[in-house]
Formats: sequence, C-alpha cells, structure tokens
Amino acid sequence: MNPALYAEALPFPLETSRWERLPLAIYAQPRTAARQVAGEIAELIRTREREGRFAVLGLATGSTPISVYQELVRLHREEGLSFANVITFNLDEYYPMSPEHAASYHHFMRVHLFDHVDLDPKRAHLPDGSVPRADAAQACAEYEELIQRAGGIDFQLLGIGRTGHIGFNEPGSSRRSGTRFIHLDRVTRQDAMKDFQDAQAVPRTAITMGVRTILAARRIVLMAFGEHKAAIVRRTVEGEISPEVPATFLQDHENCLLVLDEAAAAELTRQRTPWVVGPLEEMGLGWNDAMVRRAVTWLAGETKKAVLKLTDEDYNSHSLQDLLAEGGNAYELNLRVFRALQNTITGWPGGKPDATEQPRPLRAPSAAVFPKTIVVFSPHPGDGVRAIGGSITRLAQQGHAVHLVYQVSGSNQVRDEVVDRYVDFLDHMRMNPSASCPDPSRVRAAVRRSEARVAARVCGVLPERLHFLNLPFYDAATEGHRHWTDEDVDLTAQLLQEIQPHQIYAAGDLADPHGTHRQCHEILSAALAQAGHEAWFAQCEAWLYRGLWMTWPIHEVDMAVPLSPVEVECKQRAVAQHESQKELPGRPGEDWARIASRQYDALGLADYEAVETFHRWA
Ligand code: F6R
Repeated sequence: MNPALYAEALPFPLETSRWERLPLAIYAQPRTAARQVAGEIAELIRTREREGRFAVLGLATGSTPISVYQELVRLHREEGLSFANVITFNLDEYYPMSPEHAASYHHFMRVHLFDHVDLDPKRAHLPDGSVPRADAAQACAEYEELIQRAGGIDFQLLGIGRTGHIGFNEPGSSRRSGTRFIHLDRVTRQDAMKDFQDAQAVPRTAITMGVRTILAARRIVLMAFGEHKAAIVRRTVEGEISPEVPATFLQDHENCLLVLDEAAAAELTRQRTPWVVGPLEEMGLGWNDAMVRRAVTWLAGETKKAVLKLTDEDYNSHSLQDLLAEGGNAYELNLRVFRALQNTITGWPGGKPDATEQPRPLRAPSAAVFPKTIVVFSPHPGDGVRAIGGSITRLAQQGHAVHLVYQVSGSNQVRDEVVDRYVDFLDHMRMNPSASCPDPSRVRAAVRRSEARVAARVCGVLPERLHFLNLPFYDAATEGHRHWTDEDVDLTAQLLQEIQPHQIYAAGDLADPHGTHRQCHEILSAALAQAGHEAWFAQCEAWLYRGLWMTWPIHEVDMAVPLSPVEVECKQRAVAQHESQKELPGRPGEDWARIASRQYDALGLADYEAVETFHRWA
C-alpha cells in the first residue's frame, strides 16, 4: 500500500503493539477518512487499468461506507476515474429480500454507487435474497465460485456491527465459514430498523460472505465511525481472537487496516488512558486541566474511591507518577479536581437574574442577559424531553423564552399497531362517513407531533414556541437517500435567524444506530457556520446534551443540572406522553440522569436524585 494514502491520519508517536493487535489510522473527521479510503480504491483501479486487468472489489453497505461511495462518484465525475475494469462482490443481502425493495442492499448499491459510475451491471454481484430457500445453499456455493473465477478479491471494504459482525457474520461464526445463510442477531435487527418502516418488517435472516471468504481478500480495510462503535472497536483491536467477536479474526490477516474516527477510537487504551501508554509529552499531549480531570476521575473509578480520598500510592500504582510530580501531591490534585467538578453544578442553566451572581459554568457574552431566548434542538420529537426534560422545565420556570425545535418528524418510529389504533379512532370520530381516512404516513407524523405538544406543555413550554422542522433528509431515508443536503441546512439556518437565541442546547448523543442524531448534528453545525457573521451568534453559547444512548463521561461535563425528586417525577410525566415510543425495540431503557447522579455521588460530590449533564459546544 502507498503510505501517502493515509497521510492525514492523526499521528501517534509511541509504540502501541502491547495493546493493539491491528494497524489503525485514526482521523479527526470521518469525511477525511472516507476520502483516503476512496483514494486507495481509486489507486487500485487505476493500477489495474494500466496493467490491463480487472480490479476486484468487495463492497459493504450500511451508513459507514456511504461517504466512500460519494467520493468515488466524485472521482468518476470530476477526475475521470473509470469503473470499466472493475468487478464487485457485495458482502451480504437480507433474506428473503427482493432486489427492488427500498431496504435491499441491491437498491442501496444502485442509489449510492452503481447508478452513478460506468460499472458494467453484469460485473456487479450481490448475494441473491430472492432465491427459494431450498436453493440458497447452492446459490451461496455459486457466489464463492464466482469470486474464485474473478481471481479473488483485491480489496475488501468492511463496516462493523455493534455485535462485532463483519458482513453478517454474527457472534459464533467460524473462522472457516464460507458464504451462507445466517440468522441475524437481535442487536443487528434493532440497528436495521432504520431501513424498515416497522420492527416486524426487519428480516430475521440474511445471506453473507463467510469469515473465510473475507479473510481471503488480499487487502482489507474496516471502517468504523461514531461513539456507538467505540466499545466493539476496542474489543476488536485489543481483545483476543474469538468467534464471539468475529471482527477479531481480522487480527490474523496480514494486510488489514482499521480506519476510525476519534469517536470510534475513544475506548482504545491510547485514547482513553494515554498515560498508561507512555509520557504524555511524547504524544504531543500535556497535563492541562481537562487531562488532569480525566486522569483523576478515571483513577477514582479504578480504585472505587471518592476523589478526596485518593492517595499518593494510588497515583503511583496507576501510571500517574508524572501527574503526581507535576501536581505536587495527591491532596493538591484531588482538591483541584474536586473543585472543578463542583463548579460544573448549577441549578440555573440559563444564568441568574443578577448578573453579578452568575453560576461559574456560564461565561458567555450573553451571561448578563436575563431572561434569555433559548432553543432546544431535539432530533426526534421525544429526544429533548427524555434527555433534558428537567432542565427544559427549569429554564421555562426561570422565565426564559424556551423554544423547542423538533428536527425530524420521527414518523419512521411508530409501530403499525399504533397507527391502526389512531386510524380506528379517527374512523369512529369521522363526521362525514364518505371522507377517507388519512394515509398512515401522515398518521405517524401526527402521532409524534401531538405527543410532543403535550410533553412540551408538561415542561411549561408555550405552544407557539414549538417548531417542527420536518427535515427532508429523514423522510427521504425510506427511499435509500440518507444523507442531508443544503435544503436541511437552510431550513435550520432560517429558523435560527428568526429566533436569534442566546443559548442553544443540542443533542451530542451521536450513538443512535440510525445515524439520525449525527446527521441532525452535522446539519446544525453547518447552519451555525452560516450564522458565524451574525451579531446574535457572537452572543450565543451552545451546549451539547446526552442522555439518550449514553451520558457524558464525567471529565467531559461542563455543566450539570441537578434534579429534585419532584422534578424527576415531572420529567417522567413529560416522557410518558411520548407513548408511541414506549417499549420500542432498540431503545435503551437506562435513565442516564440517574446514572450521572451516581457518578457524582461515587466521586464524593453530592447525592442528587438525578443530574442532567452538558458539554460546552466550542
Ligand atoms: C453491510 C454489512 C455490515 C455493516 C455493519 C455496520 O454490508 O455487512 O457488516 O457493515 O452492520 O453498519 P453501519 O455502517 O450502518 O453501522
């Protein structure tokens, strides 16, 4: 491989082979990573073209490789990259599945790559999800044979599932497995719900290339982006080879690279506890406030002690001698971190009426403005309330003008039986029996909207301050077009321009398997970038919340809003209004605000009923 291809990966100067069993390239931005992977594929295609040979590509579907395909399409259109000498084999297809179905991988590949490049359709292969069950084994054997006849795969692109699957080789898959029929894991089916209107519609089975088929490729690049992949990436890179995590079989491959963004790499030893790997200065890092807080809270977790009880010995025996030397002694360090954590806690997230008494976390130019105009962005209608319903209620009660902006309709997450119930209800209530009932997709969106309205009322937000953006990228997802466009950004920017907030709260919980939160986040970032020159923007401070799929690690919390038992009850009432979301498969049931409060308690701070946490959005 040409090393210049991955030149933009973040450098890491120390030896990590003690922990890491696979080579890595980590990127600050997934887009840069995708561009470099596309660069490698393009180089392979061009080399083969010069040699008068075919380039044989193994391709993956899912949200991760979309940006690679976008870049390949760009290279084709703008730089003349031809696919005339390319043969492709996709990893997998759902079963049973018609190639015409919008959620099929056949459709996905057409939408994202095949329809936009000069690849001969006869050379584009995918497992056939429409063969009769009795013929599936034969079809799998033929697929293997086709790969052999093409000379084997030159370059295999992979994503990774939260179960550790590559292709659809779920936990338990053998190292020797070939292309075959397989039952999908429960977690995989939950993650696949993004492509199907209803949980019941997600197929239970699939056809996938086997682990052996994948490992036979001459070059493998596995990509993983986002915090929801961090735990499985750690097991893949640092864990023993085991069929429990099929991706660990890649450790046996001689020419495999993992391409990650920082979020997916976050759980690796080198990122999570760099002081264990070596002296920080040698990694271009230092003992700044953030790093000290991270190390001390980690140490408290490891030793199961409150911060103020940590001793010199604790620091010394946990690779923190350098920190101890720099900080003087354990007592000084403990106190420094304890005070910093204490200063994150405030019951006045929007600031106090008296500007001279501002709680410490608020340092924005708008700190003196009271009451403030505040916008809370909620990706799906229920997210804002579920994550920070307590803080929303507080902000409203403290007199701020709180606006709730629902970014997507959320209509894809309403079960059929809920729709049936409402349609039946409407049927009964119809004044004019000849009028027809609204179509189910309108019912879905209306269900989410009405739930959101009532929940907002419980939190004390006025109806005229609710905004349903219905970002078009979300509704286009059912047709396989999942990426946001300028239209989504413009709608968001217009609304911000109208409201001109002093404070923004947005979801920083990008671990949802649908990728909707990440897209909403990117759209909002782009809209804020457009507002960069506006006077209101200079006055505005922004906070990211979590509390849907995960919580902020304590060292990343810049503001923590404690909730009393009464406030927790009120929040629960607001959350309960989102009735259609109750017991939806794939929804983690954790109450993150309680988990966050336990973290504060364990560190020896205060024992609150619940705590909603925020990270400053720089
Ligand atoms: C897709 C495939 C799967 C995905 C994996 C990650 O062809 O074989 O292994 O790569 O499930 O999916 P995303 O990228 O959607 O997170």
